[in-house]
Amino acid sequence: MKIYAHRGCSGTFPENTIAAFKAAARLPIHGVEFDVHMTKDGELVVIHDESINRTSNGSGFIKDMTLKEIQNYDFGIWFSNNFKGEKVPTLREVLYVFKDTHHHINIELKSDVFPYVGMEQKVLEMLKQYRLEDRVVISSFNHEMIQNVKKQAPHIETAILFMEVMVAPHEYAQIVGADALHAFFPTALRKMGKEVIASGKQLRVFTVNEETYADMLHAVGVHAIFTDYPQEMYNYLNK
Ligand code: G3P
Ligand code: CA
Repeated sequence: MKIYAHRGCSGTFPENTIAAFKAAARLPIHGVEFDVHMTKDGELVVIHDESINRTSNGSGFIKDMTLKEIQNYDFGIWFSNNFKGEKVPTLREVLYVFKDTHHHINIELKSDVFPYVGMEQKVLEMLKQYRLEDRVVISSFNHEMIQNVKKQAPHIETAILFMEVMVAPHEYAQIVGADALHAFFPTALRKMGKEVIASGKQLRVFTVNEETYADMLHAVGVHAIFTDYPQEMYNYLNK
């Protein structure tokens, strides 16, 4: 079972910062996951929430601020004084960290609350520039955007994210044009988890920090997990 560093090494570093990604880039794990939003001036930034309130010393929605405005704030100090000075990374800066590593890169487009019109084209252009198209999976809770990505770039791997216990989600994924399914932890243990695996599509599960949960998922044949503690989970699964 493969391991993705969820928002970088977010259990031990401030999530979605260059410090968290550099730590992940040093690990012998399969991949890394992070979240993308779009600023008022159309810049792509890597951050989980729609606002900067929880993970910075500022406040406000990303969609209402320019990149320059957001860069005035500190994104490390909320986690620990040791990370004072961490800035919000741009997508370009994060891709640069992984450009020469072996890691599979899961880019989650956070366009399910605010639509961020045109975000997917910008991401696709950047991946082409960086020649990373064969080393990424683009995922989203916004399945309309995943459908757009697949139409515009059929060669790029796509995934639908979902929280619910669904009926035949692999058939739904086919309609959307998703190659993989990224499921909330307990739902993967239900009947649909087995069905997805039997369909041949990749089933990856978030967010798994407990060893016992990892064991349960491994036993049913889940392909990969997202964890905030990738080093510890790697040590456990490879012991
Ligand atoms: O991509 C898997 C997982 O990160 C989805 O949930 O809320 O952590 O972005 P969330
Ligand atoms: Ca995410």
